[in-house]
Amino acid sequence: MIISLVVAASENNAIGLDNALLWKLPNDMKFFKNLTWAMPIIMGRKTFESMGSKPLPGRFNIVISRNPDALPSMENVWPANSLEQALALAQSSDCREAFVIGGGDIYKQCTAMADRIYMTRVHASYPDADTFFPLIDEALFRIENAVEMPADEKHAQSYRFETWQRVDNATP
Ligand SMILES: NC(=O)c1ccc[n+]([C@@H]2O[C@H](COP(=O)([O-])OP(=O)(O)OC[C@H]3O[C@@H](n4cnc5c(N)ncnc54)[C@H](OP(=O)(O)O)[C@@H]3O)[C@@H](O)[C@H]2O)c1
Repeated sequence: MIISLVVAASENNAIGLDNALLWKLPNDMKFFKNLTWAMPIIMGRKTFESMGSKPLPGRFNIVISRNPDALPSMENVWPANSLEQALALAQSSDCREAFVIGGGDIYKQCTAMADRIYMTRVHASYPDADTFFPLIDEALFRIENAVEMPADEKHAQSYRFETWQRVDNATP
């Protein structure tokens, strides 16, 4: 199973503030939906709460918490008490790829095991953010694909869709 991180980060690697996103980019939302549809998505408890404590439809929502019994019990939410348990749950769905969708704490712990990073690089800087994506180690990952997207009436920031792939045989 391929382990992929999916993230939108600014030029200074900011990803969130006050448990919310920093921008509205509808095209990035569409990209995210298409990429993850019908697949397992793994997230930290705080990211789950930032989505109103509701699962994303059409995906196998796995939520990690050290106290999983405190998570609301609902259809299409699978609690996990560790990253290892989350990955085992994803594997049990027989999928070819599992998507780690944040937030900062979970990304930090998953970078070492990721095969791929889908990075939406937002061309802006947010020095006052409180959550950040770790620096991508360019000795371990290489950009395979990048598509620039301009700002427009629906997107205040320009951004770039990047796909990073782990360099063969690279170990952290
Ligand atoms: N821009 C983006 O692409 C993007 C994507 C996702 C999220 N975000 C943003 O990121 C922020 C949230 O990120 P965050 O770093 O604060 O929190 P987070 O990573 O979403 O969740 C952290 C929580 O996950 C649980 N956890 C972490 N590691 C664990 C482990 N090894 N075993 C068991 N449980 C573990 C703990 O939950 P318990 O405390 O319950 O034990 C921990 O408090 C928000 O601002 C959100 O909007 C941005």
